[in-house]
Amino acid sequence: MATRADPHLILVGLPGAGKSTVGRAVAAKLGRPFADLDVEIERRAARSVAEIFADPGESHFRQLEAEVSAELAVLPSMVIAPGAGWIANEAAVAPLRQQARIIHLRVRPETALSRLTADMTIRPLLQGPNRLDALVRLSDTRRASYESADEEVDTDNVELQEVIRKVTWLAADWRAG
Ligand code: S3P
Repeated sequence: MATRADPHLILVGLPGAGKSTVGRAVAAKLGRPFADLDVEIERRAARSVAEIFADPGESHFRQLEAEVSAELAVLPSMVIAPGAGWIANEAAVAPLRQQARIIHLRVRPETALSRLTADMTIRPLLQGPNRLDALVRLSDTRRASYESADEEVDTDNVELQEVIRKVTWLAADWRAG
């Protein structure tokens, strides 16, 4: 059983890194709750992420991201998968940083693109003719933020089960320590 004293486990990385898939599986293995931050935001706003980005806009989305992060911070330890831009939103990271361990699921933009669904309407920052360029830009501008994670797990050319195994092992190790 996770206790309040155990740190939250937060998975960060580009769209397509596998944050939600890996997070849900790791949470099940650890017997901890799982939270998809974007789903929590959508529940709170009663609108989709794409709708929020369209109106009132990204800055409102980032504000909601910070508010929901602060709410999760005081709950017992869970596995959290935020959207790819969360790590660069200081107001969102601040309430969780002290009580969380962050793992960066590293993925090359080319691999990320191959994993993403054809329906890009759910990813407002990846709309437009060249999604690979958009992913490369996001990767470049957020590189330093992703590198601030406590650990990095490579997901390129690695079986999903192996990524889940590594992340579970790291989380269990932090808990023991
Ligand atoms: C975003 C990524 C999305 C979502 C929003 C903003 C980003 O989540 O939070 O569209 O800033 O890169 P995914 O990482 O699930 O695509």
